[in-house]
Parts: sequence; structure tokens; C-alpha cells
Amino acid sequence: MKVHPEVGLSFDDVLLIPKRNSFGSRKKVSLKTKLTKGITLNIPIISANMDTVTGARLAIAMAQSGGMGILHRFNTIEEEVGEVRKVKRQSSYIIKDPYTITKDKTVGDARAISQIYGVSGFPVLDEGKLVGIVTERDLWFQKDDSLIADVMTKKNDMVLIEQEKTIKPEKFVEVFKKHKVEKIPIIDKKSNLLGMVTAKDIANLGNGHATKSSDGSLMVGASVGVKDAAKRSEALIKAGADVLVIDIAHGHSEAVVSTLKTLKRKLDIEIIAGNIATSAAAEELISAGADAIKVGIGPGSVCTTRLVTGSGVPQLTAIEWTHNVAQHYGVPIIGDGGIRTSGDIAKALAAGASTVMVGKVLGGTEEAPGATIIRGGRKYKFYRGMSSISANSKKLEVDQSDFDISDVVGEGNETFIPYIGSAKEVISQLCGGLKSAFSYSGATSILELRKNAELIRLSSGGLRESYAKLDSD
Ligand code: XMP
Repeated sequence: MKVHPEVGLSFDDVLLIPKRNSFGSRKKVSLKTKLTKGITLNIPIISANMDTVTGARLAIAMAQSGGMGILHRFNTIEEEVGEVRKVKRQSSYIIKDPYTITKDKTVGDARAISQIYGVSGFPVLDEGKLVGIVTERDLWFQKDDSLIADVMTKKNDMVLIEQEKTIKPEKFVEVFKKHKVEKIPIIDKKSNLLGMVTAKDIANLGNGHATKSSDGSLMVGASVGVKDAAKRSEALIKAGADVLVIDIAHGHSEAVVSTLKTLKRKLDIEIIAGNIATSAAAEELISAGADAIKVGIGPGSVCTTRLVTGSGVPQLTAIEWTHNVAQHYGVPIIGDGGIRTSGDIAKALAAGASTVMVGKVLGGTEEAPGATIIRGGRKYKFYRGMSSISANSKKLEVDQSDFDISDVVGEGNETFIPYIGSAKEVISQLCGGLKSAFSYSGATSILELRKNAELIRLSSGGLRESYAKLDSD
């Protein structure tokens, strides 16, 4: 046995020592970064490939915010391909398959759909044709059993756009300004619904932030395991996936290395590989062709790997170790797991990560898969580790495997977490906090942050002091 002389550190063990700021405003800070050797993002945040975090809806919000969503693989190939297609069909501002309601439904039905999907208005259809729209205001003071047909704003009285060819965003701005509405359906000459545009999405367009492929579609990542990697990867690429993630709990393994080599030989796409936590693992995955490395063994909020196996490396040290190798090859590190705040992201970037992957931070958002439940007057969403018993049992179902669930040893928890509203708002808050972090470090870019960063280790008193304000709220 060998005992490593170094102490493994994580986010709560250190603080960034403030540095002289010579540039003043946070506006000068750029969060631009590399996800892989060839893909640049405007923000250093991607969403976790977990089935309670990233489906098409969250992937769309992530790409629109300048990051990227990585679709989970705990479904059939056809289902994952379907999610890729949904993201690629979405333009950066037109919702191509908005939630709709039919005119024979009731106000109670509309309220229930609103509650489940968190949308505040729907185009109303009759035999597939647009006949009106119901927004929040149409539902005010109405009884649950009133018919949608009686409360909706009828087609003749509403604002809509008949699509000629492509509609430029400026045209929508004009219409929103003139009519002061929040949503505009788009129809063809026969009143078939083609999509819907919201004032909020058009307003967000100006920031030029969205992550787009060369054809203008939003970028999306998709994960594969090792078992059906070849078949799944080919189908995902055909559907338009922009990057693949080979994602295995213990990525420093023969299975991942050989899968990575085979896929890189056969396919023309960038591949992220993981998860790992050591320099030896980084070296091996990079020489097998990885275009980015996902780092994190056990730091995640629902991970029990370290308890079950006694294995892992504290996350800040894992990022530092792997970055020390990967930087020589220009391969970016993704710090995956354990991120709770923008301060944690700043520390991960300072230690060598180019992006972070977050699960729990986004699991409570509207766009994360799964229904919102109400308990004791508060809203919650379900969040689970992908090695939890229930996720394993879903996987056995999808694989139609005859493996016995009682043989599975779970390495993840499942829990309900508070509902926190829109993912775009959560991301915007994180990025605002991150820009403040950069200004405290006197850095206008991630490279400068990494160069300037000096970390001080915390005593238990120092840690208490950092958290004291939160406790006394
Ligand atoms: P956060 O802290 O953002 O972490 O919720 C998300 C990351 O956690 C990892 N993950 C797991 N790790 N058992 C584990 O040991 C699990 O069941 C599990 N599920 C997810 C994963 O890397 C994810 O991105």
C-alpha cells in the first residue's frame, strides 16, 4: 500500500485570494471557453446527462443561454434520438412544437397543463387548425369547468403571423411592440400551427449568446455507454448531435479506452470521455483520442460512490491533477459534480477546469424532465443519481435485461429538491456571480483567472465564517 503525501482538496477547503482589479466593470469579463478541442461556448456551464436533468427542453435552454445540454442515455436509442431532433428542430427563437390545447377542453385542463409544463399560454386547436389562444389573462376569474372555446381569445381577435418564408427577429420585435402581447403563434395559409414566438425569447436574442452549429441550429451533446456505443452513436450523429459523451462511472477502464478508440476511428465527431480523477487516466484517455475529459469520481450531490467503494479524489485536486496533464495536449477538462454556487464554479475554473457540469443546480428547474409536485404548499422536483437503485431498475427495463435488480448495488441517492423556476434565470444568476468572482480575482477571462489564482486553505473557523451569513438569514 502507498499513502499519497498530498492532501486532497475540494471547494469548501479553499478560497480565492482577492487580487487587484484594474478593469473596473464586470461587463469586461468574458466567460467564453472551450468545451472540447473544437467547440467553443459562451459560458462555462453544461448540464448533466442525468434523466432528471437533461432532456430536450433543458438542452434547448442551455444552448440558448450560451452553454450546452448533454442528453442522458437512460432510454432507448429511438428516444434519445427523438430528444436530439427536438433540439435541432428548435430555432433559437421559434418554439417549433409549443404545448397546445383543443377547444373542447376546460379551463381546469388548461390550468393542469400549465402547472405540469410551466407554460402560461397555449394556442387552441380544432381538428389540428389554430382557432384561438388562451393566456393566463383569459383564465382569470374563470371556473374550472368553463370550456376553452368560451374563454379563449378567438383567431380573428388575436395577433398572429402567417409565415411567408423565413421571418427575421426584427419583424417579431415590431409586432410585439405594436400589440403589446407576450406570445405570437405562427401559422401557414391553411391555419396549421407552425410554431410560436415569445417576447421573452426575442428579448434574449440580442445577447448573441446562443451556442449554435454552422447551420444555425442549437448545439446539443448526447451521451452513450459502452454496450451499444456504435449503434447509438451513429443514430445520434445522424439526428444531428454535435458532440458525444462516453460516460461511465469509472472511465479509466479498458472498456472506455477501446470504445473511444473505435468510435474516433469510425466517426467524424468530437468525443468527451469520463469520468476519471487522476493524471494517469487523463493521459490514457487523451492518447485514445478524447477531445475533452470529464472529471469527477464521487463529488456529486447524490453520489454515494465514495461511501460504497471508498474510492475517489476530492474534486478540486482531481481537476488540478488532470488539468496538469491535459493542458499539454490542449484538451479541456470538464469538472463534473459537487457544484452548488457560482463560487464553486470559479474555484473549479481556477483549478484548471474549462467548463463545469451541473446536475442538482438545474434539476429543480422548470425545464428539467419530470413533473413538479406540491408538498406542504411548496413545489418540488424529483432528482436521482444515475446509479441509484431506481435508475438501475429503469435501465434494466430499457435494456430488457434479465439481470436481477436485487444483485444491483446502488451508488446514488434519490430525493426531492425544491422547484426553482426557469433554467435561463438560474444560469443567468450563476454567470452574474461568476463575473463578480472574476472581478475579485482581477481577471477578465478564464485563462487570466487560472493564471492569477491563488488559493488559501481554510480552517474550520474560516469555513464557519464563510457560511455564517447563510445560516443567519
Ligand atoms: P451534482 O453535484 O451537480 O452532480 O448534482 C452531478 C453529477 O453527479 C454524477 N452522478 C453520480 N455519481 N452516483 C455517483 O457516484 C450516481 O448515482 C450518480 N448520478 C450522477 C454525475 O457525474 C453527474 O454529472
